[in-house]
Amino acid sequence: MENGLIVSKIRNGTVIDHIPAGRALAVLKVLGIRGSEGIRVALVMNVESKKMGRKDIVKIENREIQEKEAELITLIAPNASINIIKEYEVVGKRKLGVPEKVSGLLKCPNPSCVTNNDVEATSTFITVRKSPITLRCAYCETEIGEEEVLRQILS
Ligand code: CTP
Ligand code: ZN
Repeated sequence: MENGLIVSKIRNGTVIDHIPAGRALAVLKVLGIRGSEGIRVALVMNVESKKMGRKDIVKIENREIQEKEAELITLIAPNASINIIKEYEVVGKRKLGVPEKVSGLLKCPNPSCVTNNDVEATSTFITVRKSPITLRCAYCETEIGEEEVLRQILS
């Protein structure tokens, strides 16, 4: 249900729904979509939602979301759902699962952490809380929360 269809339905592709209001751009960033690829994308931001007050929606034509990408989306949108669309019908709907660990995406804020000093060490965070997200560096145990995750993804 979508307030008078602010954006039309798509024929084939993926709809990421129930994104916290204002975070659609961060979701695109996580997916590596910058616009220059030429993929047709629709963003719906800050629209009314029965369940969450306000929400964002991202619609991507002719593109599937890989499991790894879906996991990363949970870092900023833990309750998002991914809808697979085929010939205008929702043929699949899944809730996302927060990953047990996140490697390579985020930087440890501790300047003396080995991941900031040894080019061979890949940053790795273990999930200690899912919503809102809390991650702990696997090397130095520094914890980062949702705010820091968002800041890094959007920077
Ligand atoms: N959607 C779309 N194009 C389609 C079909 C659906 O863009 N051809 C969008 C809808 O606008 C909605 C999302 O995909 O944002 C999920 O569709 P649907 O399952 O029909 O909506 P709801 O029942 O409201 O979903 P939920 O129960 O997950 O809230
Ligand atoms: Zn660290």
